[in-house]
Amino acid sequence: MSESLQHVHKGLEGVIADTTSVSLIDGDAGRLYYRGYAVEELARKRFAEVMHLVVFGTLPDADRLQEVEDYLWIAGRLPPELAASLRQIARHGEHPMATLQAITTLLALEPPAVSLGRSPQEEEALIVAARIPAAIATIYAALQDHPEHPYPASRRYGERYLQLLHGRQPSPIEVSVFESAQILQLDHGFNASTFTARVVTSTLAPATSALSAAMGALYGPLHGAADQQALEMALEVGQPERAREFVAQCLASGRKVMGMGHREYRVVDPRSRMIRALAQQVAHRPEHIQLLDVLSAVDEAFIEQTREKRRTLRANLEFYKGVVYLALGIPKEFFTASFAAARVFGWIAHVMEQRQDNRIIRPTAHYVGPAPRSMTQ
Ligand SMILES: CC(C)(COP(=O)(O)OP(=O)(O)OC[C@H]1O[C@@H](n2cnc3c(N)ncnc32)[C@H](O)[C@@H]1OP(=O)(O)O)[C@@H](O)C(=O)NCCC(=O)NCCS
Repeated sequence: MSESLQHVHKGLEGVIADTTSVSLIDGDAGRLYYRGYAVEELARKRFAEVMHLVVFGTLPDADRLQEVEDYLWIAGRLPPELAASLRQIARHGEHPMATLQAITTLLALEPPAVSLGRSPQEEEALIVAARIPAAIATIYAALQDHPEHPYPASRRYGERYLQLLHGRQPSPIEVSVFESAQILQLDHGFNASTFTARVVTSTLAPATSALSAAMGALYGPLHGAADQQALEMALEVGQPERAREFVAQCLASGRKVMGMGHREYRVVDPRSRMIRALAQQVAHRPEHIQLLDVLSAVDEAFIEQTREKRRTLRANLEFYKGVVYLALGIPKEFFTASFAAARVFGWIAHVMEQRQDNRIIRPTAHYVGPAPRSMTQ
């Protein structure tokens, strides 16, 4: 390999692109912290509290929490004309992530009469984030060809989210499991979608454009859409007894086992252990228990059959997440959009951080095309 090719960092592995104070991944210990607090501790809190910590850097006191929940509730309602346009677009039947990415830059139109006292661009981004749950519910209703459910009275994020989708009051367990799952997805270092948001922000493009671009990156199966694909894989495997053979075939043919592996973790992904426990809490129906059994068997077979690999490969957050979402009534086509509903707050934290100390992100390429030549010779 030539001297300069040795300096190509394919996939930017190991490249420290900037500093951040939002989250810390300790890949060797298998730990994740938001603003210094371990996710294990944070997952027991209300979603809006941890969202506030991630975006603004502090845990809110009771008054501030109420202010933030009121804000999300008021700002989160879609203006009727925007909802009507979204309904029309959604009826074309594209994947919810494609529709959501397309609408993201426009979600802040007709701003609400509330504010969290940030700059106009940051306020716009916060309105977009607040409206994503209602946008998802509108897309869902349009695809089902039924009218949207009335806007819920609850200020609590998880309760409102599930009620917007299903039009019924979720149980306290459903709300707390959903909020814990969403907390686990709030931020994760310089993952592909967050880095995308930072690249777009570094050009001084609007924050809403950064969120839309990040949405596009999340839609990729090597990143966010691994959640839908892991669940589809479990459906394909069907029975726990088929897991070993399935994994062996994947490894022999070079097919990725979705929901497995991670760039940063050298041991377990702590979110995977936690999401599995949440799945066990809500999987009561036979078909959900069966899916969990299939995934556990694939997990076991994968560990056994990849022991010799140079890198330790374990289940990531996406592997068991689908069972949690399915048990909460979220269809698989809406997994990645529901992921985006949480990660959008992490993106906003990074957009703010990038703006504070910005330099355009512009790496260098090692040219391997034809040597300089002329058409006249
Ligand atoms: C997450 C992921 C994109 C990380 O990619 P990466 O850091 O570039 O990992 P690498 O490609 O260097 O993987 C190292 C080795 O493990 C293998 N590997 C990694 N993930 C694998 C998987 N899910 N299934 C089978 N083999 C896998 C690679 O083929 C490679 O093998 P090799 O050393 O024989 O070439 C990758 O593990 C993956 O595609 N996983 C499945 C998709 C997924 O779950 N994404 C969600 C991430 S949160």
